[in-house]
Amino acid sequence: MAAVRAITSVPVDEDGTVLTSYEDVRVALFTRSLAQHAHKRYERGNILEDVVMQLHLPAHKIRRRAENPLYRRDAVLDYERVRFPAVIDTTLDTAIGSGVRDALELAHLLTMVLSAHISGIDVDQADIAALRRLVELERVFVQGASISDSTRDKQDVISDVNVALEEFDDEFLAFARARREARIAEGSLTIENANDLLSVLLLQKDGLGLDDALILREVAFFLESGSHTSSLSVAGALTELFAWIAEHPSRWASLQEQPQARREFLQRCAHEAIRLYPVVPVLRRRATEPVAIGAQKFVPDDVVFLDCVAANRDTSVFGTDADRFDPDRIIPEGVPRFGIGFGGGMHTCIGRVLAAGVESSGSRSEPPILGQVAQVLEALVVRGVRPDPERPPVPDTTTVRKRLKSLPVLFEND
Ligand code: HEM
Repeated sequence: MAAVRAITSVPVDEDGTVLTSYEDVRVALFTRSLAQHAHKRYERGNILEDVVMQLHLPAHKIRRRAENPLYRRDAVLDYERVRFPAVIDTTLDTAIGSGVRDALELAHLLTMVLSAHISGIDVDQADIAALRRLVELERVFVQGASISDSTRDKQDVISDVNVALEEFDDEFLAFARARREARIAEGSLTIENANDLLSVLLLQKDGLGLDDALILREVAFFLESGSHTSSLSVAGALTELFAWIAEHPSRWASLQEQPQARREFLQRCAHEAIRLYPVVPVLRRRATEPVAIGAQKFVPDDVVFLDCVAANRDTSVFGTDADRFDPDRIIPEGVPRFGIGFGGGMHTCIGRVLAAGVESSGSRSEPPILGQVAQVLEALVVRGVRPDPERPPVPDTTTVRKRLKSLPVLFEND
């Protein structure tokens, strides 16, 4: 087995080889003989057990094929143009009106509405108390999903996850499930009109070999994957944007006169922040057969860490100033602006377009899909968001990952 080599982002807790160049990480993601190994040691009895992200061929292909249609282009456009603007109008203004002045919490509440809808949890977008409760549960699920990086006792994390899963079932899932099962029984909910994960799983339960506990975990996993990642990306982008505005006041003033250019600029800010601060800093894989990646050779059961932070700052791809936040960065053709922030290959993020959209092709007939991270940024900017000079950002100390617990802000009339 290969020895651990230096890693530039977070410490790892297992023997393995760390790949750090953009090309090695990209190739590894597309290599079918490298299977998922995310937090394998703590998988049993934890939230990720047998969820789509943990599966390998052919089980992964079957589950993913069932779930992919939820993220079709027309569904994403419906979220972007119809559902999310309505969420912003109600949820954001209600939350700001009720005194919330933490950009991370606001982003969480907004992205939670969409995440809940896609997962199949029926929640009223103006019901801030219910959304807060979902965010609270999600914070526990996240600790389980990133357990290797937790600074807490791992068994405590797993028992908290199990309590949270039970509460989530009692308070949200059981009701949503009963409604869908009644519609399936009367024939009005079918695979043709199913538009959320829970419906898709219930309709194909037998074919996919799912039991009730796995349905619960899969829904909880989607809920946390959708909202936690997007809201942290909003916070990362906003922090960098505040610094950028201070350095470029006249350019920012001129962007205020051009709403479409500003939206596209904010999308580039979102992508640049996802590149610099990938929410999942290290992806874990295990060799299933002998395989070589660049100069490294692996035998079955070797563990391979893909250091996304290092890869996304690879100067041979992103330039000598790769460490800097630059929304105007020129990127080589074929390389996404967000690097490998959404992974790649068979486990590539299922919600990527929903979160990050699609950049403008330059054609007027096809406006870009902004994605929910840029849409939240735009909604905050329109309401005059600015840093709170009295309250600095607060880091999250429950994890070795560098992330925020809160980002205090003020709005136009504060
Ligand atoms: C900025 C937002 C997001 C980021 C940075 C992000 C990042 C990632 C990354 C890096 C992976 C690959 C994990 C691996 O290869 O081990 C992934 C997978 C996944 N993401 Fe996301 N994600 C985001 C938003 C979303 C959203 C909105 C959803 C759903 C509503 C979602 C659902 C998933 C799922 C289900 C997987 C597992 C896919 C599979 O294994 O086949 N993510 N995400």
